[in-house]
Amino acid sequence: MCGIVGYLGKQEAAPILLGGLKRLEYRGYDSAGIAVMNGGDVNVVKEVGKIRNLESALDTTPLKGFIGIGHTRWATHGEPNKTNAHPHVDGTGNIVLFHNGIIENYASLNKMLQEKGHVFITETDTEILAHLIEEFYEKDLEKAIRHALHEVDGTYGLAVISKYDPNKIYVARKGSPIVIGVGKDEYFVASDVTPLVNYTRDVFYLEDYEMAIITPKGVTTKTIENKKIEKKTERVTFELEAIEKGGFDHFMLKEIYQQPDTIMDAMRGRILKDEGIVKLGGLEKIEDRLVKANKIVFTASGTSWIAALIGEYLIEEFCRIPVEVEYASEFRYRNPIIDEDDVVIAISQSGETADTLAALREGKRKGALTLGIVNSVGSTIARETDAGVYIHAGHEIGVASTKAFTSQVTVLALITLMIARRKNMSSELGKAMVNELLKIPEKVQIILHQNDYIRDFARRYKDERNFLYLGRGYNFPVALEGALKLKEISYIHAEGYAAAEMKHGPIALIDKDMPVVFLATKDVIYDKVISNIEEVKARGGRIICIATQGDEKIQQYADHVIYIPDTLRALTPLLSVIPLQLLSYHVAVMRGCDVDMPRNLAKSVTVE
Ligand code: AGP
Repeated sequence: MCGIVGYLGKQEAAPILLGGLKRLEYRGYDSAGIAVMNGGDVNVVKEVGKIRNLESALDTTPLKGFIGIGHTRWATHGEPNKTNAHPHVDGTGNIVLFHNGIIENYASLNKMLQEKGHVFITETDTEILAHLIEEFYEKDLEKAIRHALHEVDGTYGLAVISKYDPNKIYVARKGSPIVIGVGKDEYFVASDVTPLVNYTRDVFYLEDYEMAIITPKGVTTKTIENKKIEKKTERVTFELEAIEKGGFDHFMLKEIYQQPDTIMDAMRGRILKDEGIVKLGGLEKIEDRLVKANKIVFTASGTSWIAALIGEYLIEEFCRIPVEVEYASEFRYRNPIIDEDDVVIAISQSGETADTLAALREGKRKGALTLGIVNSVGSTIARETDAGVYIHAGHEIGVASTKAFTSQVTVLALITLMIARRKNMSSELGKAMVNELLKIPEKVQIILHQNDYIRDFARRYKDERNFLYLGRGYNFPVALEGALKLKEISYIHAEGYAAAEMKHGPIALIDKDMPVVFLATKDVIYDKVISNIEEVKARGGRIICIATQGDEKIQQYADHVIYIPDTLRALTPLLSVIPLQLLSYHVAVMRGCDVDMPRNLAKSVTVE
């Protein structure tokens, strides 16, 4: 996700900003820029791509001055290119703004400002914020910033410099962290402490709806209601390496724990709760064609392909549109039956998977409407589809996909609702589903609290050589995902199966050495799963169950039970996958595997 670094002091700002941005590279980005105040003028250099491109540009155009801000952009609105890189300015060019977060109501703000004569040159939500401050500016920049922030829905970690106040940096925070470092007559701003620890370990954090005004004489902190607040600095004791992982041992664990936030980000600004409907801006222009599709074909690879299976269950159940799910690597070569009445949807975290891109092109060649469900903004797949929905999961560093999977499933649920409410789904059911979707983040948080319990019993399975994962209905794809997670990071052979399929072969594998993970949450086919569990138990299999809170009956069958909160059957995967992510993570760590970069694997398979 985006990163911000700011400096105000007696040293040249540019080298400090550049070094700070390098410290933030781990957050993932696609462009970068810095602005430095010099004699009342703000000079800007920005580049697409890696920090080294910015560094080369600065070699050619050095920026002098002791006050400045830098930014690495992880695109959420607008392609990753030089124009969209931060900073963004208002219409006068005097307000220079850097932003980390998502302005949810950017469309309505854009319309209001355009009606007042503002002209935008980028596709970003950030530029709208700069113009909003300009709109409210009447000789008091701090007041204009506060006024603008009152109009904003969404999240921001904000930094502003301006020739109106050449010796100040304004920062504000809502939802996107901002930390301020206090040095000796110098001050630092950053999205996290990694850029600061080389200069100072005395820091304080802004909370939501707080802002700070940094000047050579010190830092004033207040709320955006203009109420002064005192902040006490604290001592940073983390080592740098740990900080980049936010205190987690691995990026994968950090990303598992980000899921309450990333699932919410996938929904943010897209749900109209009172009407029980979903608005997906990226699909608006093709919505009618999607609703009337003759069939929908999902094409993807790996975990994204598993998410597509859940999409199949959702859309066929609630939209009554036939759905096929195809491995991209197969779809691209088997001359599939596709025509202009069909919709081909590519699901891809990276947006660069070669097989998925080729399958998408095959669908396009055959005349289908092509859509993307992608995390990386501006990626090749995102650019080549006719339309699409970004999942807003932020940069996923761990090779094993976790937060991207739950965000993909969340977006699939949103697309299902968007279509179904255009067809036969009642407003009552629509409201029930959106209300339950909005509760999922807090339910995921409840499951994450069982991490220690899962780690403790994972110890007993770290030396296993095989695992079976079994589930039915919406939990069948989750069984596949649990098996994929375990095998790709712990190198233990694991298979996912539809639980009822046990009888048709896999049951021959069951003996006292075979651990079997059952997805056994309460739903219409619970009793059938219990029968499958009894079949395994009768043959000495060891049983781990993912069960619904309050289900005591399951205790008599399972060696270990991980309880998850109840939810709608169709949304169960968003919860039942979490314990499996944690189980695979802890087993892999106990086996000494390289969890974030497993052997033989790449984060994005851009080759056939
Ligand atoms: C998932 O944990 C794996 N890393 C892998 O299966 C991945 O899902 C697959 O390569 C597809 O990647 P994509 O979503 O970026 O297209």
